Formats: sequence, C-alpha cells, structure tokens
Amino acid sequence: MITKIFQNSEEELEEAVAWIKNGELIAFPTETVYGLGASIFSEKAIQKIFQVKNRPQDNPLIAHLSDINQVEQIATHIPCEFYKWSELFFPGPLTLVLQKHPRVPSIVSAGQESIALRMPQHILASQFIKKVGVPLVAPSANISGRPSSTEVGHVLEDFNGKIAGVIEGGRCLIGIESTVISLLNPQKPLLLRPGKLSAEEIEDKVGVKISISTNEGAPLSPGMKYRHYAPSAKLLLFETQEEIDLYLQKAPPLKRRVFTPTCNNLYATFRQADRQGCAEIVVLLPPASEAGLLNRLKKALGCSLDISAF
Ligand code: TXA
Ligand code: MG
Repeated sequence: MITKIFQNSEEELEEAVAWIKNGELIAFPTETVYGLGASIFSEKAIQKIFQVKNRPQDNPLIAHLSDINQVEQIATHIPCEFYKWSELFFPGPLTLVLQKHPRVPSIVSAGQESIALRMPQHILASQFIKKVGVPLVAPSANISGRPSSTEVGHVLEDFNGKIAGVIEGGRCLIGIESTVISLLNPQKPLLLRPGKLSAEEIEDKVGVKISISTNEGAPLSPGMKYRHYAPSAKLLLFETQEEIDLYLQKAPPLKRRVFTPTCNNLYATFRQADRQGCAEIVVLLPPASEAGLLNRLKKALGCSLDISAF
C-alpha cells in the first residue's frame, strides 16, 4: 500500500476523509502527538490499528471529538462534573474516562465498560474529525513500545506502506501525550496518566482533589503497564549535571547522545539517536514538577510505574 502525505487543503482533507470512510487508517496531527485514526464505528479498521501497531489487545483506545455533542453518541450516564471539566479544558491535552455507550464496539475499549475521550485543539485534527462526521479513535501513531510520533517523518518511519496516509501538520506543539483522568467516580477523579497539563493545574481550576492511581490490582489504564516510548539505544538517567560529567569522563568511547529532555524534544531526539545508531542516550532528570515528562522517561527506562512517587 502506498502511504500518501496529505497536505492542508480542502481537497486533500476530503480525500483523507474518504479513506477513513472506506475503513482505512489515516494518521493525523494533534497538539500532543500524531494519532493513528480510524472511525469509532469501524471494527475492521480498529482491528487494523491493533495489527499495524502490534498493540496489546487489552489496551483501549481514546475517542477524539470535534464537538462536545458527540459525547452523548459514545458515553452514557455522563456526570455533570464532566461538563464542567470539558468547559474548562476542551479542546486541549486532557482525556477523560466515562461510561461507554453500548453502541460503541467493545474493541475500542478493549472489553472495558468505559470510554476515554478527548477533543484535540489542533485545527487540522478538529477539521478532519468534523469532516468525517463521527469520533475517531486514535492511539499515538507509533509501533507499540517505540517513541510516539511528533512529526510526519516519525509516522512514516513506523508505518510507511502500511497505512493509507498521514496528514501533514508540522511538529506537534506539546510533544507528549494527553493527561488521562477517570471520571467514572465523579466525586473522586483519578489520574491515570500524567501529561503536560498537571494534576495541580487541573485541581486549581476545578477545585477538586485528584487522586493518583497506584496501579494496584487490575490496571485501570492498561497501557500504563507496558514499557513505552523507548529508544533502541540504552537510556541512562542522571539526577545532576555533575553526575553526567563524571560519567562522561570515564565512559567508554561509544556513539552516544547527551541531551536535556523537554516535552518538545524527547521523542524526536530518541528517534534521531536511533537513526544515527547511538548505543547510549544520556539525559538529565527533569524536575519533579514535570510529572508528564518524568513519567515518559521512567517508562522508557522500563521502570515499573509509580506515578505517586512524583
Ligand atoms: O495525546 C494523546 O492522548 C494521544 C493523541 C493521539 O491523542 N493518544 C494517545 O493514545 O496517547 P494511546 O493509545 O497511545 O494512549 C492511550 C492511553 C493508554 O494508556 C490507554 O490504556 C488509556 O489511554 N486508555 C484508553 N482508554 C481507556 C479507558 N477506557 N480506561 C482507562 N484508560 C484508558
Ligand atoms: Mg501510545
């Protein structure tokens, strides 16, 4: 299959929409990372998502909306708290988990009774979803376990020849995935995945304490139990620049990349280091306030997740 790069024009967007309506996959830009999109009602297309990503079957997908009215098509028993939260944070890098409407195929939520949803802020994502006319499910557009894609070149690295196309939207503004919060118990919102939008910022605006998932027992957000976002090169994290300097003085003469990670450069630098055949990537641990970035680094290291630790 030839993977087409669609440019930002009315005609090209229409062509991408036609592929989606035909049950094919189209990657599209969002403000966080590129997503690999399929219609939420096309089970066959969703099966293809799991197949091309090599995604574990128990890892549910996020539904992407262009209009708040679409929530009622895919969720049920929607608490009034949801509308308060969505007014404050939609469109934007926040995903909320609600009760799934029975009409949504269970493959979307990997058999769970819940549905994660968000409304991306990226104008192309929004226009694309609107033109399709139904919500799009879209995991991050990367082979499972690899760093997410923050530009079209990354999407092609993983999926060239395997998907119908990708919409060119330049570099993603934020660079790491959305913050995921469960509102299944609206009195006790639960942070399932930290992101650029911090729990503190949300608490300040909403005026409600957010609990942090300890991931004990059954995984609430199944994606969090897998190693993720990982480069092939060995990743070494150091707490201070002095420690990095000391390490480098004695380190073996390997091809290595040393950088200070930010949300914006993390995945692109991982991918670049791999392309250049680096054996090691050396990074300075970001401050505790950068919970989303810290989480991605720890996951890339393969640490068991303990988001309550930061
Ligand atoms: O920023 C983002 O969220 C990007 C862009 C493309 O929107 N998407 C993304 O999707 O990161 P994905 O599939 O790579 O990660 C979705 C995360 C996984 O950890 C998954 O387990 C969790 O959301 N999730 C999805 N549905 C869920 C549900 N019903 N309950 C709990 N967690 C859920
Ligand atoms: Mg992902």
